[in-house]
Amino acid sequence: MLGCIAAVAGANPAHNDHVITRDICVIGGGAAGTYAAVRLGDMNQSVIVIEHKDRLGGNTQTFTDPITGAKADIGVQVWHVLDIVKNFFSRFNVPLTTTQTTASSVEFIDFTNGAKLKGYPGNQGNLTVALQAYAAQLAKYPFLDAGFDLPDPVPTDLLMPFGDFVAKYNLSAAMTVLPDFAAGLGTLTKYPTLYFMKVAGLTILQSIQTGFYTTAHHDNSEIYQNAQAALLAADSLLLNSHIVATERGNNGGPVKLVVSTPSGHRVIQAKKIIFAIPPTLENLHNFDIDSEERHLFEQFSTTGYYTGLLRNSGVPANAGTITDRGLHTTFHVPKLPNIFSTYASAILGLQQVFYGSDTVLPIDQVKHSIITTMQQIFPNATATVPPVFAVFSSHSPFVFMVPSSAIKAGFYRKLSNLQGHRHMFYAGAAFQTQDSSLIWQFIEGLLPHVVA
Ligand SMILES: Cc1cc2nc3c(=O)[nH]c(=O)nc-3n(C[C@H](O)[C@H](O)[C@H](O)COP(=O)(O)OP(=O)(O)OC[C@H]3O[C@@H](n4cnc5c(N)ncnc54)[C@H](O)[C@@H]3O)c2cc1C
Ligand SMILES: *[C@@H]1O[C@H](CO)[C@@H](O)[C@H](O)[C@H]1NC(C)=O
Ligand SMILES: *[C@@H]1O[C@H](CO)[C@@H](O)[C@H](O)[C@H]1NC(C)=O
Ligand SMILES: *[C@@H]1O[C@H](CO)[C@@H](O)[C@H](O)[C@H]1NC(C)=O
Ligand SMILES: *[C@@H]1O[C@H](CO)[C@@H](O)[C@H](O)[C@H]1NC(C)=O
Repeated sequence: MLGCIAAVAGANPAHNDHVITRDICVIGGGAAGTYAAVRLGDMNQSVIVIEHKDRLGGNTQTFTDPITGAKADIGVQVWHVLDIVKNFFSRFNVPLTTTQTTASSVEFIDFTNGAKLKGYPGNQGNLTVALQAYAAQLAKYPFLDAGFDLPDPVPTDLLMPFGDFVAKYNLSAAMTVLPDFAAGLGTLTKYPTLYFMKVAGLTILQSIQTGFYTTAHHDNSEIYQNAQAALLAADSLLLNSHIVATERGNNGGPVKLVVSTPSGHRVIQAKKIIFAIPPTLENLHNFDIDSEERHLFEQFSTTGYYTGLLRNSGVPANAGTITDRGLHTTFHVPKLPNIFSTYASAILGLQQVFYGSDTVLPIDQVKHSIITTMQQIFPNATATVPPVFAVFSSHSPFVFMVPSSAIKAGFYRKLSNLQGHRHMFYAGAAFQTQDSSLIWQFIEGLLPHVVA
């Protein structure tokens, strides 16, 4: 195996100047990988982060208008008011401020045909009462915000399609707002209730009432730029790099990884790996996975989530948030794939669109669908100058899910048992939820096991 690694590396492993030796190799520099690397440094562990893009931050993205220099955060917007969030921002000198989510004028449109939903909610009942009823249901499962550490047997309510759960507990009135908590979850009524409760959990409900943190400079990427500078200075980061082969400590030896970098292949020798990229089979391909690992990871299906800023969007300048709701769908959830929400970005004249899908779609298909849908919904303004993307971003694959039968059969217990298996640990959204703050909390719990 070592010979194979050396052959891929094009390097003679006897020449130590080619080998990067670290305690921990972290794969991916998004919310999870960046936080893990910084905290491992605090624990006196030497680290190397492998990030395939030219920047840290992952889904945290900030667009800078090339003409005016104005900035708009097009990915991660907010964090929870937690000490670990405050401490992480303060160590990198990025000031935070608190923000309230305001129910700015919301218009409901069926994006399949442009029809306005008059008198929405068509879902019967009292919104306040229904939201309280949903919160009471969530309170039965306080462990959900910590990860996927589910009881055995898994409560049957968590396994039923969320649409059935809404019907069972008379929550239909809450469906006026609940779809907006589940951006990127696809057709939320058809998936196990577990997944809806993971994206719209108690911490989220709490923060909606009491406020979130956001950055005072309105530049959510700054924290990652500062972390990037610190990690580069400590020789702990390889950008524009990816793993091409791995040997995970067979015969009790250290882990060896071959990484493709802009200056050629390098060999890394480490005690442990933290895998903090989406766990698709494609991404796992070069990680020497065994049949047990493959059997679990191949059960995942993933949703698609895309965003962009449009010029000439055709949306009237005075429009507030426009949200997609199906005229004829169960509980009026958006019919996907489609734009599910749009609002004016922080940059004058640029409209942000959010596009969701139950599967990952080709990028050109999504871009085309967004442009033609905007032209259809806002025909007058887009008649002469068509909408054009100032920036487009795919956040796909986004939510990782398995069928309820797999959850029932102990999928997440087996996934959790993989932590540390053959020197590899896992972090990031698929193992927790699409929430940076809760991912960081999860990592605080994971790292003592990594360094043990
Ligand atoms: C539009 C949008 C808005 C959001 N808003 C919020 C919000 O307000 N608050 C919040 O907490 N969360 C928000 N989220 C959720 C957010 O995605 C998560 O909080 C967080 O980014 C997930 O972190 P992660 O590290 O798991 O994944 P990512 O942030 O996606 O990081 C993965 C990293 O791995 C890199 N990578 C991928 N493949 C490879 C490879 N093969 N080799 C090397 N590197 C690789 C990627 O380039 C990336 O840097 C939002 C998401 C989206 C899409
Ligand atoms: C890390 O090393 C420093 C300097 O040697 C030491 O003061 C500190 O206690 C160590 N921290 C941990 C968590 O081991
Ligand atoms: C909804 O229920 C709350 C709490 O019981 C009540 O105060 C409010 O008036 C109700 N709203 C409507 C529109 O009936
Ligand atoms: C739901 O509403 C119906 C009719 O209003 C009522 O009979 C039923 O008890 C309610 N169920 C729950 C779980 O609240
Ligand atoms: C679009 O233009 C037509 C014809 O001028 C007009 O009747 C209609 O009200 C306009 N629609 C909007 C949404 O502005």
